[in-house]
Amino acid sequence: MITPISYRDGAVELLDQTRLPQEAVVLKIREFRELARAIRELKVRGAPAIGLAAAYGVVLGLQNLELEDEAQLDRRFQEVVEELKRTRPTAVNLFWALERMARAFKESRAKGLGLAELKRALLAEAEAIHREDIEANKRIGRLGAELLPEGATVLTHCNAGALATGGYGTALGVVRSAWEMGRLRKVLVSETRPLLQGARLTAWELEQEGIPYELITDGMAGWLMARGEVGAVVVGADRIARNGDTANKIGTYSLAVLAHHHKIPFYVAAPSSTLDPACPTGREIPLEERSPEEVTTIRGVRLAPAGASARNPAFDVTPHEMISAIITERGVLRPPLAEAIADVLP
Ligand code: MRU
Repeated sequence: MITPISYRDGAVELLDQTRLPQEAVVLKIREFRELARAIRELKVRGAPAIGLAAAYGVVLGLQNLELEDEAQLDRRFQEVVEELKRTRPTAVNLFWALERMARAFKESRAKGLGLAELKRALLAEAEAIHREDIEANKRIGRLGAELLPEGATVLTHCNAGALATGGYGTALGVVRSAWEMGRLRKVLVSETRPLLQGARLTAWELEQEGIPYELITDGMAGWLMARGEVGAVVVGADRIARNGDTANKIGTYSLAVLAHHHKIPFYVAAPSSTLDPACPTGREIPLEERSPEEVTTIRGVRLAPAGASARNPAFDVTPHEMISAIITERGVLRPPLAEAIADVLP
């Protein structure tokens, strides 16, 4: 199984996603600030993988600490968490994972654990997040595959695969399961400008698995839908508001509008850690805006004239009315989504 992230002998090992598919380089990171930089630079990306990386980042932040006094431990924990929180704003899994780590930290402190035991407890929590994410994805995969028509052609956007999670993937988990169950004809992979997560990462994963796919540019989706060549759209999510509005990679909204127009089912596949009870609607979701250089250049090669100005919103919000169902490990949530989401939130 493709593993984007693991922890071994005091180092977080990351498969550097900025260098795929040309090179499979594994980075060994021992310092939490370096890990925060790796998240910011998209060396590790995708909502659940960002959360997981942050959880392991907390482990790194405390691992070489030599304690002078108890207050120093609390200060250091806060410093590490704050640095990791500042990496990327949209994926709620980041904040969710850091909250889980904070709970584990507080419980260990309340039990009066020594520093060595506390570090072990934090590593155990990060590993539990990792394990649970893979299990959730496998269940999402099975539930989602059952929704697809026999011999489906599935369009997916960005990369919501093993690389974007603890392993197996959400939207690509559905694709993997459907392929294993013999229900899938092929995948249409939209390249996902500006950073090409579809062309570079989703295509790479499907190559590894031998799952048939065709790469398309983002602008081709509407025409292929009009020609009846798309059976369903399945995408991941970075944050889902209480009413079902869903933030995901820029371009997802356009696909949802097109799917709605052509009466094609539009599915969001995401673990329950992507549901944000603190966001009533999509309007409250913070959306990352990245450097315009990602639009005016591709991997350092300038496309636009020098001095060209550009916009680079990295995410958009798909209104809940355009979503046929949200596939979570707790079940398939169908409209009215606000009620279905309330039922699965603790
Ligand atoms: O900017 P990225 O590459 O982190 O954006 C990733 C996405 O938009 C994914 O679709 C989303 O995080 C779901 S990953 C299972």
